Amino acid sequence: MIEPVRLQDAGPSSVDEEIETSLRPRRLDDFVGQEAVRDQLAVALDAAKGRGEALDHVMLAGPPGLGKTSLANIVAEELGAPFVQTAGPALERKGDIAALLTALEPGAVFFVDELHRLPRALEEAFYPAMEDFQLPITIGQGPGARVVTIDLPRFTLIGATTRSGLLSTPLRDRFGIQFRLDPYSADELAQIVQRSAGILGIEIAASGASAIASRSRGTPRVANRLLKRVRDWAQVKGTGVIDDAAAASALAHLEIDVEGLDRLDRELLRTICELFAGGPVGLSTLAAAIGEEADTLEDVYEPYLLQRGFIQRTPRGRVASPRAFRHLGLTPPGDAPELFT
Ligand SMILES: Nc1ncnc2c1ncn2[C@@H]1O[C@H](COP(=O)(O)OP(=O)(O)O)[C@@H](O)[C@H]1O
Ligand SMILES: [Mg+2]
Repeated sequence: MIEPVRLQDAGPSSVDEEIETSLRPRRLDDFVGQEAVRDQLAVALDAAKGRGEALDHVMLAGPPGLGKTSLANIVAEELGAPFVQTAGPALERKGDIAALLTALEPGAVFFVDELHRLPRALEEAFYPAMEDFQLPITIGQGPGARVVTIDLPRFTLIGATTRSGLLSTPLRDRFGIQFRLDPYSADELAQIVQRSAGILGIEIAASGASAIASRSRGTPRVANRLLKRVRDWAQVKGTGVIDDAAAASALAHLEIDVEGLDRLDRELLRTICELFAGGPVGLSTLAAAIGEEADTLEDVYEPYLLQRGFIQRTPRGRVASPRAFRHLGLTPPGDAPELFT
């Protein structure tokens, strides 16, 4: 029995993490799609290298699994610079930031994942560091306290976020380069699947790659995960080669439908359609009804369902579209009953 896949968990498990690292594109040329981002980044990198300066600070926004961490690594690789990584929630005190920043080598890339989860009180510590490469530190307390300013090496801050709307304007404004990553096309995903299959030594037909790509929700991480699951299936139940038949039966077994929706997506849609009569239903009510965190629904499930027009966000809550009803085999409210002629 093959376990059902969870397509949308925000990050990789530790087992997945190893494979994910091996599949991560290393250079800008290996990075598929996102052409505008790639072009602009290539120019900025060339200019910075040409001047022998650190690259401007970069913000990468977009849903999970679209390549933010990969791009941050690529920037360091292309610059030949050291890569230091942390995440918003890991930074609790000003001292945490000071320890990391003062240890940076000149030109280093400092990657802060989940930037929107950086405590507000700490944001301010980044302002002088980003602008002037200086870190004011208060020593002592009360009337005897004094401020000492530490000079930092020039570095490039790369911030990644799934929720750029939650960043404060002053923080956002301090990033000279800002990119938003969009979902990938089926062709790009098929290319990514082929590339990953090559690295993992999996035999795959073009038709198999397309079948996986079209159900990957526009997301490379999902494409890679499906590839691994389909490989297991092909090895155990098929000939070992992934063609469209093997891909289709494996994906059906994993309960991933033609739209790339898994059981949880459908449960979410069904809850809005049936329990709440199509909505509108508030996010927190919906989250409670299906036993998920509101944040997870909003960051992880909704982007694709919104993008594909299955749900809409309204001021009064989430609404299921007629398309969602039809996808579940239900009759949309207000649809005229079928006429017999
Ligand atoms: N443009 C791309 N080209 C090839 N593979 C990609 C691309 N973007 C993402 N991937 C693959 O998807 C996985 C997840 O990407 P990652 O950079 O961790 O996403 P994010 O940080 O946005 O969640 C990577 O391990 C990589 O294999
Ligand atoms: Mg990431």
